[in-house]
Amino acid sequence: MLHRSPDRTPGIAQGGGRAWSPACQGTESRKHPVPRQRHAPKAQASCLVWVIIGLNSVTLRPQLKIMTKIRAAITGIQGYVPDYILTNAELEKMVDTNDEWITSRTGIKERHILKEPGKAASDMGRIMVDKLLKKTNTSPDEIELVICCCITGDMVFPDTANTICDKVGIKNAFGYDIHAACSGFLFGLTTGAKFIESGTYKKVIVIGMDVMSSIIDYTDRATCIIFGDGGGAVLLEPNTEGNGIIDSVLRGDGSGREYLHMKAGGSLRPPTAETVARKEHYVYQEGKAVFKAAINGMVDTIKKILERNELTLDQIDWLVPHQANIRIINGVADALNFDPAKVMINIQKYGNTTSGTLPLCLWEWEPQLKKGDNILLTAFGGGFTWGTTYLRWAY
Ligand code: UT7
Repeated sequence: MLHRSPDRTPGIAQGGGRAWSPACQGTESRKHPVPRQRHAPKAQASCLVWVIIGLNSVTLRPQLKIMTKIRAAITGIQGYVPDYILTNAELEKMVDTNDEWITSRTGIKERHILKEPGKAASDMGRIMVDKLLKKTNTSPDEIELVICCCITGDMVFPDTANTICDKVGIKNAFGYDIHAACSGFLFGLTTGAKFIESGTYKKVIVIGMDVMSSIIDYTDRATCIIFGDGGGAVLLEPNTEGNGIIDSVLRGDGSGREYLHMKAGGSLRPPTAETVARKEHYVYQEGKAVFKAAINGMVDTIKKILERNELTLDQIDWLVPHQANIRIINGVADALNFDPAKVMINIQKYGNTTSGTLPLCLWEWEPQLKKGDNILLTAFGGGFTWGTTYLRWAY
């Protein structure tokens, strides 16, 4: 039975529960003017029970365990980017662009590309998860669920999470993919956390990554300069110290698909020689429309989460924004008047790795994070999908 503690710390259960029920105060008999006599034995019994509970809670209080809400905490993180680096200088040789334009319009200097033939998303996932298990001293057998947030999985089906489990040797788990584009990691983290909070599982892996180079047209200067490959994986475990994932505000608006999508390859336009000739298996984006919606969506959900959790911005230690464009990141920070020194930015090295940007940031900043740090993760992307997650760092 959970109660609020006297100091009103949310979710802390105290041994000393309620000592008296309303029945003991006779309110029930006042509401219903039936002869008191007929109800007396029941009321007395009820009072007796509450007296016993009250006495027990007083006498046993020191022995009672303080029960706290179970939260899902990130207890380890591992990032990964492929070796090959595609620089702005190299892109200048491929399309009509230049370093000055890319840097000033996006903030990107280079991005990593998975070039090895025969390698795919599951190979990046395998490396991340292998390293994550070693780092957290976890056996593959202990993992109960793997959620892979990725729009560039190995195949349309099966889900890449299953392939990763197979490659890593995770045998006692099930896995599934989440296709929420740039917001994928937020959606995966939030749903993965529910399995921990409910007490169903104790060890859940959430992966956020993409191999964007597999769906990019390297003759289209409007998109090929932005995206890169990479991401990260986290281990979620129960935490009863008040740290972990606290809250998420997640949103979607399917009408936004008009501005950011891949035309062919799904059931709407199954792949044919014609769809390939028309280059419909590549990312299509109307950048300006996405740009405006991205700032508004992230700012709105950040404000909502602050309000809902009675937080002010000065209580936030880190803002982790999706890395799509430095101007979008700055636009969000400016709209909130948020200290730029507390905004994680690594877009210059990796570009936009779609579902991979948030875990890549957390991984890079991991040495600087402290237990109890208040962190906001925010993202916006294809769908449209967007949202903000509030978590307290657990180690
Ligand atoms: O993560 C998923 C969500 N995606 C996003 O959040 C992306 C949001 N959008 C953006 O980041 C930006 O809109 C882009 C980076 C995609 C484009 O920047 P922009 O400032 O909106 O540029 P624009 O598309 O309005 O193009 C401005 C000019 C155009 O030339 P004119 O018509 O003014 O002569 C483009 O043709 O820049 C030109 N241009 C380029 N020039 C050099 C477009 N791409 C390039 C390029 N190099 N790579």
